[in-house]
Amino acid sequence: MIKTVKELFASEAASLAGQTVTVRGLVKSNRGNKAVGFLQVNDGSCFGSAQVVYDPVADEAATHLRMGAQVICEGEFVLTPENKQPFEIRATSIVVAGDIAEDYPLQKKKTSYEYLRTLPHLRQRTNTFGAVFRVRSELSYAIHEYFHEHGFFYIHTPIFTGNDCEGAGQTFVATPDLKKPDDFFGHRATLTVSGQLHVEPFALTYQKVYTFGPAFRAEKSNTPRHAAEFWMIEPEVAYCDLNGDMDLMEDFLKTIVSRVVQRCPQDFEFFKTWVNKDVDARLKEMLEKPFKRVDYTEGIDILLKAKAEGHKFANPDIYWGLDLMSEHERFLTEKHFGCPIFLKNYPKEIKAFYMKQNDDGKTVGAVDLLFPDVGELCGGSQREEDYGKLKARIEELGMPVEAYQWYLDSRRWGGCVHSGFGLGFDRLLMYITGLENIRDVEPYPRNYGEMLF
Ligand code: 4AD
Ligand code: MG
Repeated sequence: MIKTVKELFASEAASLAGQTVTVRGLVKSNRGNKAVGFLQVNDGSCFGSAQVVYDPVADEAATHLRMGAQVICEGEFVLTPENKQPFEIRATSIVVAGDIAEDYPLQKKKTSYEYLRTLPHLRQRTNTFGAVFRVRSELSYAIHEYFHEHGFFYIHTPIFTGNDCEGAGQTFVATPDLKKPDDFFGHRATLTVSGQLHVEPFALTYQKVYTFGPAFRAEKSNTPRHAAEFWMIEPEVAYCDLNGDMDLMEDFLKTIVSRVVQRCPQDFEFFKTWVNKDVDARLKEMLEKPFKRVDYTEGIDILLKAKAEGHKFANPDIYWGLDLMSEHERFLTEKHFGCPIFLKNYPKEIKAFYMKQNDDGKTVGAVDLLFPDVGELCGGSQREEDYGKLKARIEELGMPVEAYQWYLDSRRWGGCVHSGFGLGFDRLLMYITGLENIRDVEPYPRNYGEMLF
């Protein structure tokens, strides 16, 4: 019977002892001597590989199998609790399903992440990337699972749009090949930077909704944390204020991360041991510590005090109204608080038009979740539900009111208090795997100046 390697590692597999099983996968290594040969076969189902033991005299062809070949191995399933490997398959047949050409670029020796980025169609066969993309898939599943369990509806917001949600002018224009920009839709279309505006009206009907899809930003910043195409999770909840928004962020993150860690034990062991020694501490930070809630104004006071006491910032021009840079955010999370923080109630000038205008006339009900090492993981807010105030802000910013009339109307036609946030999926994956470049957690990274295939 055909089994996945994951099934063979599971404790239930003990009942298969003595039976004939078949595994299909890639050769990770082939070693041995004149008397016995060992193939490590990995089918991607889990980190571990199946050890297939063969007789090099009876099956001389097997001795020539090289790393990367596809094989179908049949044999007796034998438990070997005394060995490092809990089981092995004593092969009766090894069939080559796909041979491997001489110029196969992956070899057993350690290769740099940079080199592997040139091989996005192959790097998932290495230990590190094999684990990353398995965990990426499990994390997506845990996200849908969480929302489903909590009564959220999954809404597919569009990728083509006529609105720039964040108003930052970082949109990619979407045009049919060789045509003028507005030829196809009748007006200018861009790729979405966020599904928020489109998901909000659904929250006013279903109360709890989320969108989870790709977002596109033409940021010409070549940082390890920014991609031109990335994935974002955006829940939106009716009758929820800023405090409720933070409660949701914290419970959501803690739940999904703890489930993924529990479901991918071999992968996380690998990340902790081989990828980044901080992973253990990071997971504790995320799962065990309460996230602290701090006002932006208090954050600025802390930074100013640190500067006065002699802390050297690369960007020392700190003032109320500053759009914090990553070193400032990191100072707050890593040095001052030593835990993840919610920084909230930002000056309205540095935040998007749709945020709830606070009574002080200066700040808005915005919240960023900041983490040690990676900085901003989530950005969210309570939304301005007052038609007049929202319209005034759109006008004040010189945005075209007509283009946002449909959105404004949701404030006239049965609107209510509501809040939401956007979680950067790839950044969360960086944090929990310990990989330090967003290019290493995306299957086919798209970045400024870089797009393979
Ligand atoms: O803070 P942002 O821009 O918020 C929004 O887009 C809101 N409309 C979300 C909402 O309230 N529904 O983006 C949200 C998150 C950021 O915190 C960050 O983690 C991630 O998306 N992000 C990026 N990730 C990778 N590459 C980029 N260029 C990113 N820009 C934002
Ligand atoms: Mg943000």
